[in-house]
Amino acid sequence: MIDWHCHLLPGLDDGAADPDESVAMARCLYAAGYREVYCTPHQLKGGYEAGNEEVLAALSGVQAALDREGVGIRLLAGREYYLDEYLLDCLADPLPLGDSRCLLIELPHRVAHREMVKQTLFRVVSAGFTPVIAHPERSPSLEVSQSGHGRRTGILGRLFNAGRSDDGATYIPSNLLAYLMELGCGFQGNVGSLRGYYGGTVRRQAEFMRAMRLYDRMGSDLHSSQHAGLILGDSAQGR
Ligand SMILES: [Fe+2]
Repeated sequence: MIDWHCHLLPGLDDGAADPDESVAMARCLYAAGYREVYCTPHQLKGGYEAGNEEVLAALSGVQAALDREGVGIRLLAGREYYLDEYLLDCLADPLPLGDSRCLLIELPHRVAHREMVKQTLFRVVSAGFTPVIAHPERSPSLEVSQSGHGRRTGILGRLFNAGRSDDGATYIPSNLLAYLMELGCGFQGNVGSLRGYYGGTVRRQAEFMRAMRLYDRMGSDLHSSQHAGLILGDSAQGR
């Protein structure tokens, strides 16, 4: 399995505090079945501003430690970019997910200016990158509602019906989520959301988004080994 979102690198953000913790987290991920892990430290102006060279150096250091310890996980580079007015500056020297043109992007929890979000992500796409929205189930502005059964028709029918689940239910994305789908964004769900790690509301949203086949990748969003069992399942504790 691939973990597309993880704060495993030490000392760069609010993830692993030191290299030993990075190895402990990798052991949890290995026990849960992961073999490739994208290391995606936060990029947040005024908060977490480690340069890409620091990220790549940290990744090499942890990979060497994992190889020494015999933990069979391959680390890949990435960032978790925060969507604010500074995001576009990062496009001059981006760190996409691995060899792709995909940028993992986190939306503010409360989106006060939806037009700004739309315009920023449109410009990311126009610059040749694919935004991958991190844990959309945790963003109230991307809420999905369920409207019983039956197929919609009309102008928005294609979008809605694209999200129909196998059980025939119809899932209706918020206006902002519909826009991001049309724009061609990817969507990364958190495995912990489906386990109820963030509460019942987020779990329900994650179930809706999974049912409408919104997610094109999943991630742990692991910040430490402490809650690995709750996020990854019991197998992660067998280390
Ligand atoms: Fe994260």
